[in-house]
Amino acid sequence: MIYLRFWLIFILCFFKSAQAVPMPPLPYSDYHNSNLPIERRVQDLLSQMTLEEKLGQLELGFSTLDSLDPAPFTKAIAEGQITGFIAPPHTDDPAFRNALQKMAMEQSRLGIPLLFGIDTIHGFRTIFPISLGLSCAWEPLLYRRTQSVAARETRAAGIDWVFAPMSDLARDPRWGRVSETCGEDPYLTSLCVAEAVRGFQGIDPGADGQVAACLKHFVGYGASVGGRDYNRTEIPDFMLRNQFLPPFKAGVDAGACTVMSSFNANDGIPATANHHTLTDILRGEWGFKGLVVCDWDAILETIEWGYAADPSQAAQVSLSAGTDMEMISTTYRDTIPTQIQKGLISPALVDEAARRVLTLKFKMGLFEHPYADASAYKTAFLHPEDRALARESAVKSCVLLKNNGILPLSKKLKSLALVGPFGDNQSEMLGAWIGHGHAEDVVTLAQGIRTKLPNVDLQVIPGCGVMLNGGSTHTLTDGSIVQDSTVRDDLAAYDAKKIKDAAKQAAKADAIIMALGEPAGWSGENASRATLGVTGRQEQLFHALADTGKPLVVILFSGRPLSVPEMDDESAALLMAWQPGVEAGNALADLLFGDASPSGRLTMSVPRDTGQLPVYYNYDNTGRPDKGFYRDDETAPLYQFGYGLTYSTFSYGPVKILPATGKNPAIATALITNTGKCRADEVVQLYIRSRYSPEGARPSQELRGFQHLVLNPGQKQEVHFPLTDQVLGLFDRKGNWRVDGGDYYIWIAPSAHTGEPVSYEHAVPVLLRP
Ligand code: BGC
Repeated sequence: MIYLRFWLIFILCFFKSAQAVPMPPLPYSDYHNSNLPIERRVQDLLSQMTLEEKLGQLELGFSTLDSLDPAPFTKAIAEGQITGFIAPPHTDDPAFRNALQKMAMEQSRLGIPLLFGIDTIHGFRTIFPISLGLSCAWEPLLYRRTQSVAARETRAAGIDWVFAPMSDLARDPRWGRVSETCGEDPYLTSLCVAEAVRGFQGIDPGADGQVAACLKHFVGYGASVGGRDYNRTEIPDFMLRNQFLPPFKAGVDAGACTVMSSFNANDGIPATANHHTLTDILRGEWGFKGLVVCDWDAILETIEWGYAADPSQAAQVSLSAGTDMEMISTTYRDTIPTQIQKGLISPALVDEAARRVLTLKFKMGLFEHPYADASAYKTAFLHPEDRALARESAVKSCVLLKNNGILPLSKKLKSLALVGPFGDNQSEMLGAWIGHGHAEDVVTLAQGIRTKLPNVDLQVIPGCGVMLNGGSTHTLTDGSIVQDSTVRDDLAAYDAKKIKDAAKQAAKADAIIMALGEPAGWSGENASRATLGVTGRQEQLFHALADTGKPLVVILFSGRPLSVPEMDDESAALLMAWQPGVEAGNALADLLFGDASPSGRLTMSVPRDTGQLPVYYNYDNTGRPDKGFYRDDETAPLYQFGYGLTYSTFSYGPVKILPATGKNPAIATALITNTGKCRADEVVQLYIRSRYSPEGARPSQELRGFQHLVLNPGQKQEVHFPLTDQVLGLFDRKGNWRVDGGDYYIWIAPSAHTGEPVSYEHAVPVLLRP
């Protein structure tokens, strides 16, 4: 509230000062003429800009709550020293943007509009499931639909640019940011990224309701060593090209306007200063013409990395590597003028970077429409059809890992116990990046069940907190706050009693659902974990309930795959719900009571133990594929990539290859049958393995296609996957697509590493194309 008041005063003062010092209208120049091509307008504008103004276009600021003094910004805006802002987290009212924009348009010498960006990751106000969850729908078009709603809401709040889609691969669930990814596979991630870009940008990112997208984090961030955020990566070029780069390439091909360089240093070179990836590959090989922004402070951090000696050198290596815009830190603005004077940096580099920023601003229509419609935003959020999409996507993102037949639950139940700290918890459903989401928008699981079964006797029993009590005060499970010193010794006993009581109460109900997981704040940025279990005393709570002998339906809420082998053993059903968003409760109630059949499939392997990490399905075959296993545990994950149950069952007939004819490629085919008792979705997956490639050893399996079937009981359908060059090939070390002739294994299967492959001999010897 205090902040709102502050900004109100600031905006009023600003309007006053804007009125007090009117600038004469700008004389006409070609860049004002919207009928001219963008290149010409940019060139005209650039030719009138001072070096300082050009550098100003490279500086993105943040209207942080911590530095409430507007003075540095107002001066910077009026002097053309700032290109735009990361939008403030405390208001979605575009009046704030409009106030700053008015200053840029009317007070700065050339009237260059500001650009506003924000992290709209899985929704702006209508919060959808986290990206990892959404990817489990194996329905890239659904991802696109959610991002298109997110785009509309974001633009309504006066924000032009989103720092999404995250295009990193998730290979280690200790890394908190796996929640923002689409999982571990480059093929599926590429499809999702491309659709997300289309959802955000539409056919014209400048049009009403669309925003500019930003592919991040370029590149390799998802392989941070030990799952520790911001860390070094060791990704050799061959792996980079075939695993980590393809999603970015797909995003570039889909027309993404911008790319964000990442925090990691690969092979010792911070991504923001990596000429090879930013210029040779992104611009040179892929022809990317858009803007590259660095991640928060990342240019300055090249010093902390021990790569650049000081801010001057940090600016020099980053600009020449291909980073156009600096986020937060100000090394470009501060050091480049002197460096140009000394001949250390070519002014052409600054021109080129400024050209890219201005091109984006023209493309976004900001010169013609600098202001957002301040009257429309209040009715722009949480439309009923958007909530319906949130419900549909939450249903589709859940993955049923285990079911002994207890699910779906009968709607005739008289009593039901909902046990665990996530059962009636609004804020935990939203996830780590919640945009402008509000906890009170969330339908909790308890509310969802009550709506579906208004007559059931529902006992909601938290049993324990999401986290262990800690710090100098403790919030006890009954909500009372006590001082640390007074209860420290009693806490364990206090919690144990609560847990015992919870088990006793729950045992009386006809059925028990447990809502367990990890806190939402333990995923996302700077939220790595060393262990992957449920947090606080939830494990104890689970065991106490399991000891009652009643069958337990366990729902897990988390931003990463959790490693819970005991829960898997002892529960009757295990449902992975991720962080499902505003419609969490309605979606889960649909699934629990059979109004929807689970259809999600894992996009990230679920480890059995953290000692297995990193664990992913597309590992190398090695020279000894039948050896090298752990002595003390299984080597395979608890649940493989691609896995997920429905309320039905499916059988797969043998894979057959229909030979190539003329120009038509060979086709892999199999007959899929719904052998169960209800209509359900099957995600039929195509995996390949190339038995040998002179370019380098390829993974033991690679996903190269999938098809969604919806079959009635007894219904059969034949699937067909053409074995095209695109399906069989790989990137060579120079970035060309290459297809080797010779032997392949082909699987059509319900998940990775299941089913029997067939051999296929591909006739093409070697094909190289640019
Ligand atoms: C994150 C980015 C994000 C940026 C702006 C950084 O800390 O790594 O993903 O886009 O902040 O909020």
